[in-house]
Amino acid sequence: MSVKTPNVIKELSAEKGYKAWLQYNEITDESLKAEYSSYFASLSVTEDSPILNAAVEELTLAANAMLGKDMTIYNYFTDDATIILGTYQTIDVEEYGLSADEVKNLNDEGYVIKSVNQADTKKLVLVGKTDKGVLYAAFQLLRFMQTSNSIDGLHHVEQPKNQFRMMNQWDNMDGSIERGYSGNSIFYDENGFTGDLTRIKDYARLLSSVGINAISINNVNVWEVETNLITSKFLPEVQQIADIFRAYGVQTFLSINFASPIQIGGLATADPLDAGVQKWWAEKVEEIYKYIPDFGGFVVKADSEHRPGPFFYDRDHADGANMLAEALAPFNGVVFWRCFVYNCLQDWRDRSTDRARAAFDHFKPLDGKFLDNVVLQIKNGPMDFQVREPISPLIGSMEKTNQVMEFQVAQEYTGQQKDLCFLVPQWKEYLKFDTHAKGEGTTVDSIVNGSVYDFKYSGITAVSNIGNDANWTGNTLAQANLFGYGRLIWNPDATSEDIADDWVRLTFGDDKNVVETVKGMLLDSWHIYENYNAPLGVGWMINQHHHYGPNIDGYEYDVWGTYHFSDRDGMGVDRTMETGTGYTEQYFSPNKEIYNSLETCPDELLLFFHHVPYTYELKSGKTVIQHIYDTHFLGFEQVEGLITRWNSLEGKMDDYRFNNVKERLHMQLKNAREWRDQINTYFYRKSGVPDAKNRTIY
Ligand code: GCU
Repeated sequence: MSVKTPNVIKELSAEKGYKAWLQYNEITDESLKAEYSSYFASLSVTEDSPILNAAVEELTLAANAMLGKDMTIYNYFTDDATIILGTYQTIDVEEYGLSADEVKNLNDEGYVIKSVNQADTKKLVLVGKTDKGVLYAAFQLLRFMQTSNSIDGLHHVEQPKNQFRMMNQWDNMDGSIERGYSGNSIFYDENGFTGDLTRIKDYARLLSSVGINAISINNVNVWEVETNLITSKFLPEVQQIADIFRAYGVQTFLSINFASPIQIGGLATADPLDAGVQKWWAEKVEEIYKYIPDFGGFVVKADSEHRPGPFFYDRDHADGANMLAEALAPFNGVVFWRCFVYNCLQDWRDRSTDRARAAFDHFKPLDGKFLDNVVLQIKNGPMDFQVREPISPLIGSMEKTNQVMEFQVAQEYTGQQKDLCFLVPQWKEYLKFDTHAKGEGTTVDSIVNGSVYDFKYSGITAVSNIGNDANWTGNTLAQANLFGYGRLIWNPDATSEDIADDWVRLTFGDDKNVVETVKGMLLDSWHIYENYNAPLGVGWMINQHHHYGPNIDGYEYDVWGTYHFSDRDGMGVDRTMETGTGYTEQYFSPNKEIYNSLETCPDELLLFFHHVPYTYELKSGKTVIQHIYDTHFLGFEQVEGLITRWNSLEGKMDDYRFNNVKERLHMQLKNAREWRDQINTYFYRKSGVPDAKNRTIY
């Protein structure tokens, strides 16, 4: 696509992609500008800490860009300043109309923003329980201003609802990113570390602005080179990165290779019960903390997809996780132990095993055996980030074991940041799902925020979607997923609409047409993607390995199987207790019965739980086969509609972002056409049932 603008403008508009939702555009509304300016004259910061400095830097940058103001900065408390920021211990908050308890009772990352509007003074007080709260307050204040809200009379109190709000990079040290769809790594290139600390800092700003407080900086599949990240060869550079993230309230973690004692320690075994192995890890951890005193801990993928783990030594996952946890405990470190453990070489004809069952079958019996600095990391669904899956039954089923849920912001199976798929509505459905673990109302968000079982550690983590593309996420609209992830896990009660609305305004400005059009596109996009994808929750049907585009019978690991069990009579996976794999039994009642019964199983998950004839009638009144035809024709038309909607915005934004999305939407159309044609043809040929509407099926 050619962009008909001179180079300078091109660069400036690429910069708009780079700035994402931290545009800090000049305020053009005169009365708002006057209002904001009256507060942004001078700033007093009551203490010295890297995090407070980051808050000051951000406010200074924004004051400059939005208001053309150079604030006077006082590095001590003075009531003369118009903006005062600090923790509640250092500010006499009662002077500003706040009660000390109001801040004291917040959790460690909470804050209050208060504007004082007296006859002759206007002041803004940003007070946090800790310095992290102050930084979050600064970002929230700037959000108010960027979305044209008055800040007079502000009394805004917030605290995050989840403890860990984490990001997992799947970056490798050759610069590639496993499941990366927006260029290469910002951390590594073919020479090791990129050394581009500015870009890493800008990523830290983006993360912190939406409340992310932890990050692991390498792929969960830890290959040969990356195994060395925990050695003196690389730790100085990890330390540099950790220093940057720390200033934005983000704690650094590393993914480790379970076989490290053999691979880099020269031991003959990695057996978690071997005293030599335990000693090796204890010394290793001590060494890491010398470089990074607040190091978060390890993320571990073990015994999964050919990665080493405790099974090799006939040990279980509690043995493996506890061994690392013991080494980390003296330093308050934590082990994130992933539950994505299944036999990838399973023969799908053998119905005594079922991949969906695997996480629960492996981990549920171990409840109570894990040390209290082990956190189980559980993917949101039992399979693998499909466009539609039920919630993982493991969530809420282990009362004595810390858990976090894992989402995927990277769109591995949901269009790879070519196709538009705003995932916040999907995550929201997961978070609000009622597990009934402790009776009605035990929603997933109440389990993962640690309030149901009083976990020591809890929260949410996710696979990142960024790379070194100018706009971070390939498709500019995919920035909304990164922003939305942070905002939603900060507060799972926020609506998808509000999150989308905020993102569009922050990113593109307030033009009503742009806001309504882009918001509408985002909010429709998950269902549109689902319409032309694998139907009714059955999943996959996607090109193996690559995971983009249709391949109906494609199966991942060169063993026998399709994921959908289609024959001439019907399709779907029987996971019932009576005739199927018994997977439904892993849920609490009444979900167990609801999913187990054909009568009550929701349409959108029907083929995940049941094998039915093509002519089976859904609750919608359509047959399964007619549903397949209709949704696939519709999905394609809806993508045409997305293109029309987007084209109506030409000239209302910079060319870079306009063309970037336009180009992607055309890729999406091609993809939707392939899905439509291949799925409809496949099932027409298999079932022999013609389309009731007589459309052409190729
Ligand atoms: C998926 C993905 C892999 C990844 C794995 C994981 O299977 O395709 O690339 O390594 O998930 O979460 O560990």
